[in-house]
Amino acid sequence: MNTEQAETVFVIFGSTGDLAKRKLFPSIYNLYRKGNLTDKFAVLGLGRRNWDNETLRDVVKESIVTEHGQDAASEAESFLNHFSYMPFDVTNRESYQQLGDQLAILDETFQIPGNRIFYMAMAPEFFGLIAQSINNEGLKETKGWSRLVIEKPFGTDLKSAIQLNEEIRKAFSEDEIYRIDHYLGKEMVQNIQVIRFANGIFGPLWNNRNIANIQVTSSEQLGVEGRGSYYEKSGALRDMVQNHMLQMVSLLAMDVPLQLSTDDIRSEKIKVLRALRPVMGETISKNVVRAQYSEGTMNGERVKGYLQEENVSETSHTETYVAARLMIDNHVWAGVPFYIRTGKRMAVKSTKIVVEFKELPLNLYRKEEKQTGPNLLIIHIQPDEGITIVLNGKRIGSADTTPVHLEYRHDSEDRVNTPEAYERLLFDCMMGDATNFAHWDEVSLSWSLVDAISNAWEKSDKVLASYEAGSMGPKEADQLLEADGNSWWPVENM
Ligand code: BG6
Repeated sequence: MNTEQAETVFVIFGSTGDLAKRKLFPSIYNLYRKGNLTDKFAVLGLGRRNWDNETLRDVVKESIVTEHGQDAASEAESFLNHFSYMPFDVTNRESYQQLGDQLAILDETFQIPGNRIFYMAMAPEFFGLIAQSINNEGLKETKGWSRLVIEKPFGTDLKSAIQLNEEIRKAFSEDEIYRIDHYLGKEMVQNIQVIRFANGIFGPLWNNRNIANIQVTSSEQLGVEGRGSYYEKSGALRDMVQNHMLQMVSLLAMDVPLQLSTDDIRSEKIKVLRALRPVMGETISKNVVRAQYSEGTMNGERVKGYLQEENVSETSHTETYVAARLMIDNHVWAGVPFYIRTGKRMAVKSTKIVVEFKELPLNLYRKEEKQTGPNLLIIHIQPDEGITIVLNGKRIGSADTTPVHLEYRHDSEDRVNTPEAYERLLFDCMMGDATNFAHWDEVSLSWSLVDAISNAWEKSDKVLASYEAGSMGPKEADQLLEADGNSWWPVENM
């Protein structure tokens, strides 16, 4: 590691919020604890509240205790000294001037060579204004580098995303912008490329001659958790499909990049998004299912339906579940459905990819259903991490055949040392590696696809399907696959 790269001031806009407390502070602490941050760093929290350094440090300490226990907090004193807080009004020019002074002091105190990460962890309507004010007030004019980290949602549709992008591009170049998609920081999402491109057994098979379909599931048990007003406007399509689900699809379908460079990888992913067949107009009901959860039972307890959640309209049409058949119109993938599904209040929390290979044209052993099945490659993203390969074998001691599972799961020791997504992404940002962040072209192409779907929904009078909380989604999602002679592979016990 080039430690000079890691000498930086993190300026967190929205440091009094939930994201900072739950994700950013623990991640910065982990980077420090593991020696990925030298002593030459500072964290400057900004927010509207009238906090002081001590209030912020107490919050940081609390987040460390929550994750690492009380002992960690007593050892963390020297870490906490790197944190300070400034009340900040994003609309006031003077605030930025004071910020400039404060940054100069921090550079001096901690011997930081002017490297700055401006982290937007607050309401998106101010991102453009903040970025431009940073630039106008000369806060980027240092000997070091400046980077802008933007949390999702990056716009609410293509139009607003373009507007936001234009605003931030007036102040930061594309190379300086790091658009977070936290799925790209997950261990097993990053492993997709290694599994695909470092194994001779998969390379030649990774195409429409050998793969029957690919299924990507991200199911959650949580409901909207007090985020009703945000979720009402977003729904599962904007909240999960536009970013996380399409990112996973592009990693699965991208061609081998020329090299493992940011530009080469991004350009292959972008090609996939360009080749995705738009789902619009009449094709919508055949290819996309939207649904909302109704009351149900989870872990033995009754839970509310979506319409009874706080800050949700009683007549809401917002979808809490989406399943879709996506087709990629290129030479490699023509004819192979990519099925995706994601939803809240489902039976299990699970993110999993199942690659189903085509069966042999003539399988002498396939006498009865279940005696043999298609070969599968299963990538377990969360909560378990690992891969399973499903082959057919002989049942020991009998003439029967049966599917056998070859499993590799990360053991608990590996997982304790596995950095969390945010920790990895912050580290990449310090190192100037934008590979696992979304490029503007990816964001805009995925908004085009999502806008086409939501426009078609607005025009169609087809009612929203329904699924019981605690189930694996609506029957319409099963029918989507049955229409192709397929079915969802279970996410449990696989
Ligand atoms: C976020 C969504 O981007 O991802 C949330 O806004 C969702 O609604 C979350 O719960 C899921 O992330 P993970 O890492 O728990 O799968």
